[in-house]
Amino acid sequence: MYETHKGENYLEKYVIHGGNRLRGEVAISGAKNAAVAILPATILAKGPCLIENIPNISDVSIMIKILSEIGAKIRVINKNTYEIDTSRISIPEIPYDMARHMRASSYFLGALLGRFHRSKVSLPGGCDFGVRPIDQHLKCFAAMGATSTVESGMIALTAEKLTGAHIYFDVVTVGGTINALLAAVLAEGQTIIENAAKEPHIVDLANFLNSMGADIMGAGTDVIKIRGVKELHSTSYSIIPDQIEAGTYMVAAAVTRGDVLIKNVIPKHLESITSKLKKIGVTVMEFDDSIRVIGDRPYRKDNVKTMPHPGFPTDMQPQICVLLCLSDGTSIVTEGVWDNRFKYVEELTRMGAQISVEGRIAIIEGQGHLIAAPVKATDLRAGAALIIAALAAEGVSEIEDIRHVERGYDNIEGKLRALGADIRKISKPDNPLQQVL
Ligand code: EPU
Repeated sequence: MYETHKGENYLEKYVIHGGNRLRGEVAISGAKNAAVAILPATILAKGPCLIENIPNISDVSIMIKILSEIGAKIRVINKNTYEIDTSRISIPEIPYDMARHMRASSYFLGALLGRFHRSKVSLPGGCDFGVRPIDQHLKCFAAMGATSTVESGMIALTAEKLTGAHIYFDVVTVGGTINALLAAVLAEGQTIIENAAKEPHIVDLANFLNSMGADIMGAGTDVIKIRGVKELHSTSYSIIPDQIEAGTYMVAAAVTRGDVLIKNVIPKHLESITSKLKKIGVTVMEFDDSIRVIGDRPYRKDNVKTMPHPGFPTDMQPQICVLLCLSDGTSIVTEGVWDNRFKYVEELTRMGAQISVEGRIAIIEGQGHLIAAPVKATDLRAGAALIIAALAAEGVSEIEDIRHVERGYDNIEGKLRALGADIRKISKPDNPLQQVL
């Protein structure tokens, strides 16, 4: 939804005429979940950071706005390259309304704490998958000497000094691992993170911090060692390609029985997705920095369990479910990370999917086709899954609440259209009276 200068609200939606086979080439943008960690990490540098391959998505725009609001100097080199100089930031506090809708706003807690030994940020929002606690983040800040208080929806941290600590995470947490890295790089002494997350964006953040002079070893394994340094300097850095965006186009090619070359990827990051697609019957060819996906049915049923990296990513769970709806036989999908990540199933059912959900398990009766319908994106990856379903379905589907999709997919409409999809974004007034006038 957006508001015009006259105060009228407009709803945006995608209208998709399904049935076209996707063909051609698509270039993958920089990784959202790396970008939203690296942007706050610039707060730790003394001097400007030049960052390339930043995806053009709304989560990044919010991060840039927050940095600018608290005093960072932002120079836009082009739509994917920014120079960020945070040396003039003086107040380690993020305005409540700017941060509360975004999960990654919690990274400002670690970054500001690392630099100022103080930070104040609203409790984080983000996609709604049930309870999303940050107890592990707070446990790690406490181990390093910070005390935390919660007041009017804001978390405040203060530390007289930050000291390296031995942290053992009770659950594998991406956000907790990122915040631990952000707080530890300038802390006094050594920090050891055990049971750390191993996602590609954790490694990317560690590489970024090391390029500024940090001393981090072991990122990408479950034990990370950080020796605190006195200061971090300017750098220039290019963000890795988005593993989930690539996986989303892989499934889109498969469900439309297309033939798509997906460029600017790191095939190693896609291994769990590639092997699952191959098992289902999709042809996947790997090259140095691209992947070709050729889809032709019939596809076979399979069981999927989402796990932290290098397991099958939870952020690909809704998309793979669509492919399984179009495969022969009964598949079982178990969500191993989030309590409640099947909200979109109700929407997919409107398109003829036969899925029953019991807690964290979905049982999918594959039946070879989906029917176009009006549906609503319930979160970012759910929105992507509904787009994929609409591309495969016969007829015209309308997908509402696409702001969720725009949080994390760079120009998805343009990229799909270039592959031959019939997809358009339309705006309509929210108020029916406005529509008549
Ligand atoms: N958890 C706790 N306590 C904590 C932190 C997490 O119990 O203090 C639990 C969560 O409730 C969940 C599990 O640990 O059950 C994993 O949560 P994690 O902290 O790893 O998730 P996150 O950092 O909040 C990031 C991504 C998500 C992705 C998850 C898992 C970003 C900005 N978000 O979230 O991405 O699903 O890791 O891989 O990096 C998306 O891109 O669509 C998305 C939702």
